[in-house]
Amino acid sequence: MAPASEMTVPKVSGRKVRNGAEPLVMVTAYDAPGARIASEAGVDMILVGDSLAMVVLGYEDTLSVTIDDMVHHTAAVGRANPHPLIVGDMPWMSYHISQTDTVNNAARLIRAGAQCVKLEGGAKRVAMIEALVDAEIPVMGHLGLTPQSMHAMGGFKVQAKQSETALNLLADAKALQHAGCFALVLEGVPGTVARLVTESLEIPTIGIGAGADTDGQVLVCHDLLGFEDRAAPKFVRRYADLRTKAVMAMGAFVHDVRGGSFPSDAETYHLGEDEAEALALYGSS
Ligand code: KIV
Repeated sequence: MAPASEMTVPKVSGRKVRNGAEPLVMVTAYDAPGARIASEAGVDMILVGDSLAMVVLGYEDTLSVTIDDMVHHTAAVGRANPHPLIVGDMPWMSYHISQTDTVNNAARLIRAGAQCVKLEGGAKRVAMIEALVDAEIPVMGHLGLTPQSMHAMGGFKVQAKQSETALNLLADAKALQHAGCFALVLEGVPGTVARLVTESLEIPTIGIGAGADTDGQVLVCHDLLGFEDRAAPKFVRRYADLRTKAVMAMGAFVHDVRGGSFPSDAETYHLGEDEAEALALYGSS
């Protein structure tokens, strides 16, 4: 398919705030209406994130979501032809086995409508990233609190809190840039560490729970729109409470149906007068 995106990988890769660029804005979307909302709101990038697992599919974590799930939802976003760049998130186990498997899985996301892919992890992912870049598939990296490593990390914990782990993160970031990543998500790291990484890289950093000194910010759309009332991490700012509004609207529908006020005459299709009469005659004979 030929996406009508106005944002491109080269445009994103040159966006450094220190060079006077505006911060990049990325949100997640998992379907066509979500993509249209993000596009109309003017975001730069739509991430079809593997957070799909929790916010849409009802899983506890991201580990259950498959490449088939991601392709299905990337295609839904792609069909909306949004202006932002579409980033297809590679789920756990879709880029860990072999370079061939990794490229084939990424190609499925690209054919579904993504213009690039995102994957989690540092220097140990370099071989896979190089294979993708070699196949002309642009890659966004993702470091810090990487949810697919939840068991290895011992839970969802802020990362790089010691100077040594911060320097390891910086080394990973440089390795990803060297391997050809065009941008880097930094999740759940102290603001000072995110600033150091951002200052040290030529590619833009996009933060989530990483403070204000990155080259952009990303939030999960269901968090920022308030689709759920579960406790959100402290870095989430809720811009709406759509869940409360949706429950109230649906409750009003329940009330109207049970009370007999829905549907009204204006909400009902009618026969022409002649047909109504003929039907009445037929019915009474
Ligand atoms: O899947 C996702 O939503 C993400 C963002 C939190 C960066 O990876």
